[in-house]
Amino acid sequence: CTIAIYSLMTFHISVFVKGICHFCADLSYNFPEETKRQYVIGNIANGLRIDVKQLSARKARIDTEDSKRYCEINLNTGDLIVAETIDREELCGSRMSCILNYELVLENPLEVHRIILQIQDINDNAPRFPNECINFEIGESADKGQRFRLDEAHDKDIGQNVVNGYSVEKNKHFVLNVHDTADGGKYAELVLEKELDREQQKEIDMILTATDGGSPQRSGTAVIHITVLDANDNVPVFSESVYKVTLAENTPSGIEIIRVSATDADEGPNGEVTYEFSRISDKAVKLFSIDKTTGQIMVVGEIDYENEKNYEMIIQSKDASGLASTAKIIVDITDANDNSPRINLKSLNNPVPENSEPGTEVGIINVQDKDSGENRQIRCSVQQNVPFKLNPSVKNYFSLVTTKALDREKESDYNITITATDGGSPPLSTSMTIHLFVSDVNDNPPVFLQQSYSAYIRENNKPGTSVCSVSANDPDWRQNGTVLYSLVPIEVSGVPVSSFLSINGDTGVIHARRSFDYEQFRNFTVKVVARDNGSPPLSSNVTVKVFITDENDNSPQILYPVPDGKSLMTEMIPKATLSGSLVSKVIAVDADSGQNAWLSYHIVKSTDPGLFSIGLHSGEIKTQRDISESDNMKQNLVISVKDNGQPSLSTTCAVNLLISDNLSEVPELKDMTYEDSNSKLTFYLIIALVSVSTFFLTFIILIVAVKFCHRRKPRLLFDGAVAVPSAYLPPNYAEVDGAGTLRSSYNYDTYLTTGSRTSDFKFITSYNENTIPFSQTLCCDEKTTNTCSDTSGEGLSYPTLKTILKKNKKLKKKIKKKNPHI
Ligand SMILES: *[C@@H]1O[C@H](CO)[C@@H](O)[C@H](O)[C@H]1NC(C)=O
Ligand SMILES: *[C@@H]1O[C@H](CO)[C@@H](O)[C@H](O)[C@H]1NC(C)=O
Ligand SMILES: *[C@@H]1O[C@H](CO)[C@@H](O)[C@H](O)[C@H]1NC(C)=O
Repeated sequence: CTIAIYSLMTFHISVFVKGICHFCADLSYNFPEETKRQYVIGNIANGLRIDVKQLSARKARIDTEDSKRYCEINLNTGDLIVAETIDREELCGSRMSCILNYELVLENPLEVHRIILQIQDINDNAPRFPNECINFEIGESADKGQRFRLDEAHDKDIGQNVVNGYSVEKNKHFVLNVHDTADGGKYAELVLEKELDREQQKEIDMILTATDGGSPQRSGTAVIHITVLDANDNVPVFSESVYKVTLAENTPSGIEIIRVSATDADEGPNGEVTYEFSRISDKAVKLFSIDKTTGQIMVVGEIDYENEKNYEMIIQSKDASGLASTAKIIVDITDANDNSPRINLKSLNNPVPENSEPGTEVGIINVQDKDSGENRQIRCSVQQNVPFKLNPSVKNYFSLVTTKALDREKESDYNITITATDGGSPPLSTSMTIHLFVSDVNDNPPVFLQQSYSAYIRENNKPGTSVCSVSANDPDWRQNGTVLYSLVPIEVSGVPVSSFLSINGDTGVIHARRSFDYEQFRNFTVKVVARDNGSPPLSSNVTVKVFITDENDNSPQILYPVPDGKSLMTEMIPKATLSGSLVSKVIAVDADSGQNAWLSYHIVKSTDPGLFSIGLHSGEIKTQRDISESDNMKQNLVISVKDNGQPSLSTTCAVNLLISDNLSEVPELKDMTYEDSNSKLTFYLIIALVSVSTFFLTFIILIVAVKFCHRRKPRLLFDGAVAVPSAYLPPNYAEVDGAGTLRSSYNYDTYLTTGSRTSDFKFITSYNENTIPFSQTLCCDEKTTNTCSDTSGEGLSYPTLKTILKKNKKLKKKIKKKNPHI
């Protein structure tokens, strides 16, 4: 009720104030807000038409029910002044009229006047948005014309000074529409004028400005923040439409060859891209893999240039909702030198004959390399130390030829190593070894180990004794190198050699076929041929000299005195012979040689021991003292002649001496001598005719002769000298070589002492011609052979002596047989 009355009153007063305020007793003033203190609102004295002095006298004052007083009275001037700055918006809010009621109290007499203060609005407030930032989230698929209402701005002022317009920063997508509200305010809305594209701009910021109608105009701003929401409106796009990759072969698996990438402008799942092969060959699928998420393409198999030189694959990228695009990948494989050359042996002549000409083709090889380009350029070679080389022939073919003559006997097989090297970097090479044999040709004759052979065999050998062994080598193979020995069929002394010797065809051992007699012949020469078994055979021959060595198989042979029982000779010695005179000489020979023929003489029995002595080697019988009258006229000596062999053989003989000056003193001896000569001839005749059966008898006669010879009467033949028939002289009477002890000069002297006849000198000549050196060792070396061949002894050349020797030998045998003790 109070408020209603108050309102009415206010209404009336305001009517008065505006129109006829001086009529009413009450005072009304109009002034703007926000004036400073002491601002003079009006003069009360003037308003009340009273004197200023009365104001103070009557204690004028302003009463109010409120605690706060906005105005005061200056009592000196009567001015009503602002006591405190008034903010209309604080005092009255949004009310259209803002009035302050005060009462002016005057005393003496008491008067109360009403004072009404009407406060006018000034534009002292700017429009304000409730939020500084206005956020929107708009999908990029939003349609054109779509509207978005914005927050309304407020201005505390009133009337003209409230918000009366909006504006927005210029932009590509939106315009602003401003509308009035029902309560008289204004609001704005954003209208989408051009479609949004998140991929171009995903956030938009704009400044929204609100302005009021005051003067000066005030404004307030807010930021519109628009987030553009994604729609799956983009396909993934590969960075390139064709990817080209060069890949070396043999790249190990697990190596990344390329990483493809496709981008999808969309966001979130719409922009998540996966990769896969969309078209790929069966071969390639084993070699490559693609990582679904990273687009990494990796090697998973063995890349072989020789298998495939390039691959083409189509890859596809997809986003979450299946939008896809494709690209192509071309992988070019480059060659690596991973294949060694291959060597193929196309043909081989194995074995190759050793007489092949240099340049003979032995084999054909072919080389291959699977790589390409430089990597398949092949060089071929053969190792240095074999006589073979490779001749390039047509296109990767080579022929293996010999470079020089082959010799199986020097090298029977070859390991030919063929090396093929390609031109890669690093180069690869392959080797092949051919084991080539050289086959034999009969090109070597057998060769004897010695240029000539000498064989020594003792006489009286057993038939079948091996004499010597020859040996020849033939380096050829098998039968071409098998050596067969044979004797060249020549004649030795008119007898085929085969009756002397035989040879073992396989071993080359030479055997004697018969017993040899040194006294018959001393050496002979045969030829041995060694022949191989080839076709045609080759042969060579060698000379074998066979030397027969001596054995002491002949006992000394007494030549003088003639050991004929019937023709015992008697030497005559003058009675006045002095001591030391040579009275006779025993002459003996030995058919053997060397020591076996070195004779020594001993007196074994004598009529008057001490009267005669005999020279040990000369056989000279000399007186030891002067002969006296008392000496027996007949003197008999038994002389033993021994050779120096082992064991030694000996012969005895008797020498009859007659001490007499006159031959007529023993006339019967003359007849005997004559008879003796006849009977000697007869004796030889008997021997020749009766042969073996008479030998025994001869032996008996000889024994009888030996036993009785010294009983015979001595006989004088020559005067102090001995006549020796030249035919009886031995050819090898004594040793002349240095090995013996009896020197030739000694022998010479010895013979000179037997007399000074021509026949003696003849003997000496013949003895020199026919002696040979003595050697008992069996020698086969060259040097000795030469020495041996110096000899020119050709056996005995005296038939008579031969006959005697033969006879003696037989006699000797018989003697030995019957009287072994002799
Ligand atoms: C060749 O090789 C073979 C086997 O490896 C071997 O037995 C032979 O002795 C070799 N020949 C040569 C001449 O090296
Ligand atoms: C021996 O040599 C001949 C050619 O002289 C040859 O034909 C033959 O094959 C050779 N024999 C052997 C066993 O090598
Ligand atoms: C022994 O060889 C020589 C040459 O070496 C030859 O002249 C001669 O005919 C050959 N004799 C025999 C019997 O083969």
